[in-house]
Amino acid sequence: MALNDYRNDFPILNPHEKGKPIIYLDTACQSLRPRQVIEVMDRYYTQYPACSGRSNHQLAATVTRMVDEARQQVARFLGASKPEEIIFTRNTTEGINLVANAFNFQPGETVLISGKEHNSNLIPWQMLVKKRGIQLKVLHPLNDGSFDLPGYEKALASGVKLVSFGYTSNLDGVTLPVEQIVKLAHKRGALAMLDAAQAAPQRKINVRSLDVDFLALSGHKVLGPSGTGVLYGKYKLLDAMDPFMVGGDTVATSTYESCEFLPVPEKYEAGLQDYAGIIGLGEAVRYLQAVGFDAIQKQELLLNKIMTEGTKDIQGIHLIGPADPALRSGIFTFYVDGIDSHRIALMLDQMANVCVRSGQHCVHSWFNNKGIKGSVRASAYFYNTQEEAEIFVENLKKIRKVL
Ligand code: ALA
Repeated sequence: MALNDYRNDFPILNPHEKGKPIIYLDTACQSLRPRQVIEVMDRYYTQYPACSGRSNHQLAATVTRMVDEARQQVARFLGASKPEEIIFTRNTTEGINLVANAFNFQPGETVLISGKEHNSNLIPWQMLVKKRGIQLKVLHPLNDGSFDLPGYEKALASGVKLVSFGYTSNLDGVTLPVEQIVKLAHKRGALAMLDAAQAAPQRKINVRSLDVDFLALSGHKVLGPSGTGVLYGKYKLLDAMDPFMVGGDTVATSTYESCEFLPVPEKYEAGLQDYAGIIGLGEAVRYLQAVGFDAIQKQELLLNKIMTEGTKDIQGIHLIGPADPALRSGIFTFYVDGIDSHRIALMLDQMANVCVRSGQHCVHSWFNNKGIKGSVRASAYFYNTQEEAEIFVENLKKIRKVL
């Protein structure tokens, strides 16, 4: 199927009403969803709106089977050894919090992150500094946004328990050399976790060949429902840890004094789950694989080139990240001297229905460190067209002329 044909699956890109169509360049925040995902969720609510793994009636049996299938689908998507290594969460944030709180960190142990982490891979560790007395070290990127490999080796040499890095940055789209990162961490006896929220939508991930210990992603960035996510963990690590959230569905039995936890993954999925969301997520990763990562990356590069080259002569524009769009996935983040980023984003929306994100993109620490107030981020995906990227460029130029 040609990439352009996939557009027909996205209702918001094919509105029935006349008027200017939406130009959605905010996929790094959340992707759009194809009708196939919406339909399987709809079927849950209309045909088998029951609990999984609890009741024994026919509706519940269907939901249990569908949830199991979704877990298998996600396990295949990530190349996990077994479906039990897939924990359903609400998002990447929850996955990272789960590891931060369930892993038995001891006072004085070090967690190493990068200087470009999203708050979700920063604040959980800051809390552990306060609550458990761990040490948090920050490895700053090089000036062009790339990873400081010699600095990393040096940091590891002084003793680290866990490294936790954003695989692909939501700020500038730069992807880290994760194979090397994991290998070097293991060589020094550290565990490795990846925040794959921005990587999973656009590249094949195989947790087994990466040998990564934990990996978190968000359903809403891989064409799946909002409020769904995945934490992958190596079975032996998940098995050894006590759960973070406990309650219904996490225990085999309990007395007034104690309980016996269910095995992985149940012990980590407390309470009634978002079954429609989980089933939708299974369908989303199936759809994504059908589109194919080669095609996705090719389209992202084409569109990022148009945005980068088309705007480079705008007076006062500063690109965040490396100049080469091939190093920034579908992400084009910039600021313009003297112009508020929110104002630019609002004008793009009002003038041409172009939806982008503005501000600090939950990477406040990086912006505060650099003394930059904010930026505009356009993030393109396979369902965007060349024409849309050109409209973005044209309107940005118009805005610069009037502001
Ligand atoms: N982390 C998401 C973003 O970058 C929400 O927009």
